[in-house]
Amino acid sequence: MLKGRHLIEPGDFSLEELDSIFALGDHMIEKQEDYLEVAKGKLLATLFYEPSTRTRFSFESAMLRLGGQIIGFDNPANSSVAKGETISDTLRVVSCYADIAVIRHPREGTAHLVSKAVPNMPIINAGDGGHEHPTQTLTDLMTIRHEKEDLNNLVIGVCGDLLFGRTIHSLVKTLNRYKNNRFIFISPRELKMPDQIKRQLRPGSFIETDNLDDAMHKVDILYMSRVQRERFVNEEEYLRLKDVYILTNKKMKNAKKDMIVMHPLPRVNEIATEVDADSRAVYFKQARYGMFVRMALISKLLGVD
Ligand code: CP
Repeated sequence: MLKGRHLIEPGDFSLEELDSIFALGDHMIEKQEDYLEVAKGKLLATLFYEPSTRTRFSFESAMLRLGGQIIGFDNPANSSVAKGETISDTLRVVSCYADIAVIRHPREGTAHLVSKAVPNMPIINAGDGGHEHPTQTLTDLMTIRHEKEDLNNLVIGVCGDLLFGRTIHSLVKTLNRYKNNRFIFISPRELKMPDQIKRQLRPGSFIETDNLDDAMHKVDILYMSRVQRERFVNEEEYLRLKDVYILTNKKMKNAKKDMIVMHPLPRVNEIATEVDADSRAVYFKQARYGMFVRMALISKLLGVD
């Protein structure tokens, strides 16, 4: 039963609960017309203290496609945060108006903090600093289910900024809960997967390398990621590392015929635009799956499914 629950990290939900969201999302893809009014009279609040395109627009379009309505801000300078109101107080007040809220914040743990202040309204973490991004994980798993037909027995190459990439942290920990998934972590030394995440993985389930070319032929999924400029304290360090990996058609020649390339987006330089025409590049499809899985999530948390 997901009605009324918060989603702060993917581990908040059992695999059975995740499956129930995916099954509903599948049905929504097939029969969107059946869900046009299920959230009629309900209000979703979006509070974005950091920039976003996909997450905010996909949540807002998801709620509108369910017949609900939306309020929110993407520039906290225009809210009473600018007068010094605490984020917990802001959410307490929002819970007087809205039925469900989505929050993105640069500080790790913020969604967890506000969920304690607002027990009577579901809070969805849309990204907290370099920590977690659970609805990107729902998006990613929905994509893998459709494009690879299984969430088990996969070799996943995870490439780029593994230190700060919150989508990667949430995804790796969640795929580790399925059966026999193995990881190749591809990053420069400075952007390696944090030890506290590696400690949570099954022994022997991952290797680390800085060589993308060596990994290309081994992976079923290549999950590319952007170097997270906004998390660097030193701009020179960012500039030195930002183009370490660039996926090109030449590199794709060494990949399996049924391998898929994923990316949470936004992309900067790490995937050459020439790769977009390769049928194995699914990152724009991935963004579309994100809307349907968020429709399913909203419906479940509101109890209107
Ligand atoms: N993938 C993702 O979180 O994109 P946005 O930052 O545009 O929301």
